[in-house]
Amino acid sequence: MKVLFVSGEAHPLVKTGGLGDVSGALPVALEAQRNSVRLVIPAYRSALAKAGDVKEVARLDLPGAPAPVRILEGRLPGHKLPLWLVDSPSHFDRDGGPYQAPDGGDWGDNPERFTLFARAVVELACDRAGLGWAAEVVHCNDWQTGLVPPLLSLESPRPATLFTIHNLAYQGVFDRATFDRLGLPETLWGSHGVEYWGNLSFIKGGLAYADWITTVSPTYAKEIRTPEFGYGLEGLLSHRSDNLVGILNGVDYQVWDPRHDPHIPQHYFIKSFRFKDHNKRALQERFGLPQRPDAPLFGLVGRLVEQKGIDLVAEVLPRLLAAYPAQVVLVGTGEKWAEGRLRELREQYPDRIGLFIGYDEGMAHLVEAGADIFLMPSRFEPCGLNQIYSLRYGTVPIVRHTGGLADTVIDYTPHTDHNRQANGFVFDEASPQALFSAIERAMEIYPKPIHWRRLACRGMELDFSWEISAQQYLRVYQRARKVVLTGG
Ligand code: ADP
Ligand code: GLC
Repeated sequence: MKVLFVSGEAHPLVKTGGLGDVSGALPVALEAQRNSVRLVIPAYRSALAKAGDVKEVARLDLPGAPAPVRILEGRLPGHKLPLWLVDSPSHFDRDGGPYQAPDGGDWGDNPERFTLFARAVVELACDRAGLGWAAEVVHCNDWQTGLVPPLLSLESPRPATLFTIHNLAYQGVFDRATFDRLGLPETLWGSHGVEYWGNLSFIKGGLAYADWITTVSPTYAKEIRTPEFGYGLEGLLSHRSDNLVGILNGVDYQVWDPRHDPHIPQHYFIKSFRFKDHNKRALQERFGLPQRPDAPLFGLVGRLVEQKGIDLVAEVLPRLLAAYPAQVVLVGTGEKWAEGRLRELREQYPDRIGLFIGYDEGMAHLVEAGADIFLMPSRFEPCGLNQIYSLRYGTVPIVRHTGGLADTVIDYTPHTDHNRQANGFVFDEASPQALFSAIERAMEIYPKPIHWRRLACRGMELDFSWEISAQQYLRVYQRARKVVLTGG
């Protein structure tokens, strides 16, 4: 099958979170199953710098671009996968993140940037760039690609479209004047189109027009049809539930595996689990924490935003540090209030808490390898990759029962332990008390090394590789194509 995979980010070229990991791995897994796959992302300055050899293969005249848009072709670094970069310097050649300026605010021209990107994708998908390749399926991801299905709906013939929700909390909503400014066809407006309460919603475009919708875990696929998680789109998602399915993310074990991870000082696995201690020592050293092998070391890596339950962690830390001889390492960047709270705590407990505010790939790997326990008390979590990485690194996750966390972590009870299913600790209520109770339960097992090791190694044995998920996507692609062929 010919699949065009469309994303706002892809590891190792550009990444702000799990979407980057998925977009750098799923297309590769699809290609490995003998499909013809192309990955397309914007040619951000930083991505272009990492892309290696690329060559211009086409030039497109597109509305909204002051000059012809160049299509650059290369390969995803480390893979054979063909990569297209949409190069419009006035939109993408700048310092800063893919969606945000260096000051942390969203780029003011995001609607223009991702409309231009969508228009280029339509040309590529329909083989109007003269590249001799037309997509049969266009796989879009998150709001940045939301205009691709509506724009493709105007084409005939057209490829099938799939829209994957990685996070419904980010929707790309702009005012009606923006819609007018973008010069989008009026037929796309309206309650069945990209309109959302009088505004333009990029994500709604994807959800309303894609032939099929997926999200990144079965539990989140159910949650988003409720008002609590649906952000006002629950009605539309319920209406489309016959064409909506949850497919759990996989893990790229080439990148995330303690047996060969280049970012960690000591490789280890189940039989050499004791070597994990070297990484713990290195982590303590890196953060200037006392070298105490017996201190339970809690790690957290993530975007510091409300979604991730950072407030719960901040509230619980003083209690955790009073009750146990624990150490904590926190790595992340995000909203100012969260960064501030964590800084205060670090100042209060300088020899117990290590903190890095920023984005550092290597450090994320070191935390996974060096910590004993990984904290992920998310208020919602479409899939979550860090807890799955933690399982592979023998770093026992403590998670809230939501979304993909609920689908990957099995709570420790005497029963699930006896059945050899338990691989972490799970709590329900989004409260500091509930998180603390889960920590208390973990702290009952932690001092029993044989027992703890058994629990940690059970997680390491699990296999979340992309192969199975890729097969599920292929089945959905077939169904989406059927929708197009049968006209409904
Ligand atoms: P989300 O996509 O919601 O951010 P995931 O758990 O799916 O959450 O994926 C997060 C990814 O981003 C992981 O690969 C994680 O290691 C990485 N990450 C998040 N914050 C940082 C950071 N500050 N430094 C390095 N990597 C980070
Ligand atoms: C989003 C979600 C996260 C998911 C990731 C990749 O950023 O917040 O739960 O794992 O996308 O699908």
